[in-house]
Amino acid sequence: MFVRREHAGDVAAVRNVVADAFADPVARDRLPSEALLLDALRSDPGWIPVLSLVAIAPSAEVVGHVLCTRATIDGTPVLGLGPLSVRSDWQRRGVGESLMHSILGAADVLGEPLVCLLGSRVYYARFGFRPASEAGISAPDPAWGEHFQFRPLSDYRPVTGAFAYARPFDDV
Ligand SMILES: CC(C)(COP(=O)(O)OP(=O)(O)OC[C@H]1O[C@@H](n2cnc3c(N)ncnc32)[C@H](O)[C@@H]1OP(=O)(O)O)[C@@H](O)C(=O)NCCC(=O)NCCS
Repeated sequence: MFVRREHAGDVAAVRNVVADAFADPVARDRLPSEALLLDALRSDPGWIPVLSLVAIAPSAEVVGHVLCTRATIDGTPVLGLGPLSVRSDWQRRGVGESLMHSILGAADVLGEPLVCLLGSRVYYARFGFRPASEAGISAPDPAWGEHFQFRPLSDYRPVTGAFAYARPFDDV
């Protein structure tokens, strides 16, 4: 398995991976909101092509995907991470971990200051994420509590205030 940037020909395969990863177990043919979000993000000004990464299996299939999109903290440009998706038959084999290390490394090289996400504290702590509230960053929804997390990068400088994702996240 290896990780690379998404190519134009990967779009349909990425959509299938996201739909599979987030499928409702009791309604697997209903398209999950994360797949619709990804579609909307592709045509949003917050889309950053170099920060849409895929994991490729030895069979050359796309089995995982992660992206960061442009977000802001009181107007300062930062990154929002997600959705992170691993095809169900490839989960718990290190694909998610590889995607996370790759995208954080890429964001760091690009000189981005920090990344925020909404997710499991247990899973994301291993990648250096901490509750965003510790850095004075407030979540779009206060109910997210400690699940809204941030990860400072090499060019981190403290920026406090209200975090806002790219606009399509408002519709999820
Ligand atoms: C969550 C997800 C991205 C993890 O990717 P993965 O390739 O399965 O995970 P990895 O193999 O890198 O890591 C496995 C570890 O993650 C943990 N893990 C997997 N899914 C988890 C979850 N939903 N919450 C917390 N921990 C989780 C496993 O317990 C395991 O931990 P361990 O190493 O301490 O035993 C993947 O399972 C997935 O796509 N899930 C469905 C979609 C989703 O929930 N995305 C994340 C939204 S925040």
